[in-house]
Amino acid sequence: MPHIAEAIESIANAARTGLSASPKTLPPWLFYDEAGSLLFEQITALPEYSLTRTERALLAAHADDILAALKADVTLVELGAGTATKTGLLLRAAAARQATVLYQPIDVSPTALEEACAQLSAGIPGLTVRPQIANYVTEPIHVMRETHKKVLALSIGSSIGNFSPDEARAVLAKLRQQLRPGDHLLLGTDLAPGPQKSVRSLIAAYDDAQGVTAVFNLNILSRLNRELEADFDLRRFEHQARWNAGESRVEMHLVSTCAQTVSLPARSMGRAQTVHFAPGETIHTENSYKFTAESVRALLTPSFRPVRSFRDADDHFAVTLAEAV
Ligand code: TRP
Repeated sequence: MPHIAEAIESIANAARTGLSASPKTLPPWLFYDEAGSLLFEQITALPEYSLTRTERALLAAHADDILAALKADVTLVELGAGTATKTGLLLRAAAARQATVLYQPIDVSPTALEEACAQLSAGIPGLTVRPQIANYVTEPIHVMRETHKKVLALSIGSSIGNFSPDEARAVLAKLRQQLRPGDHLLLGTDLAPGPQKSVRSLIAAYDDAQGVTAVFNLNILSRLNRELEADFDLRRFEHQARWNAGESRVEMHLVSTCAQTVSLPARSMGRAQTVHFAPGETIHTENSYKFTAESVRALLTPSFRPVRSFRDADDHFAVTLAEAV
């Protein structure tokens, strides 16, 4: 785990860089402190947010096919595991096929990983969990390998859609460096709007009636207040979700409702910084790209080759098994 001072330093750097950019941005990993990880768990249970339920149903239906397709015992590693509630389906299927299962969840949130370990270690015979607290974008990742086993890497929950296509390809290339030919990746991707998926429902998934997603988005500012002693007034920012058809992504913004100035003190930042907002100006906090079969294939190339893809009957979500090449 990075030293606390280093963690504050990387938060300060991210805030300094993002808030002096134009348009203003903040990186999505900042969402996942303890409060943010809990809020995200609530999002996954919202009536409007069907991604998690759909992916869980796909994993429940196909976990065995997925493991059978590897034709060997497996070691699992997961990028952005969070509390790993869906991963249990794959781990159970693996435990039914082999004597021991090693699972390596990687996540920025130590509290989410603790929860994952507590939940999984109890119920699955032969399972060993080796968590790594790391930001898999900015820090190196290490995949442990067991002799005579293939690696099955997981990137599920459409987390890959939170990166730009270039960043996503870089993440997959970095993962690929830790893998060998024959190892596999299981990639969960939310799908673009189509005949059975309206833009309206897509936006609702990121702007729910109860306002949980709004609190989640605004928590990024609370975090900067807590950890960097910034003075964001949360009553002067509003959550907004937009569909950007050209980029095939839902964008999350925090809209400044008035002209205002926010200060980030020098304490942890090197130097003090003031950030001005015009009325209506936004901080772009997150993208959630929505995919087609072609864009999934493009993302995987050249590190991986898709071998099987599983979709729900309404074409809302896809889980793609791909082989390292
Ligand atoms: N991977 C999730 C997604 O893109 C993350 C997420 C869900 C999210 N709801 C959010 C990120 C709201 C930011 C804001 O669907």
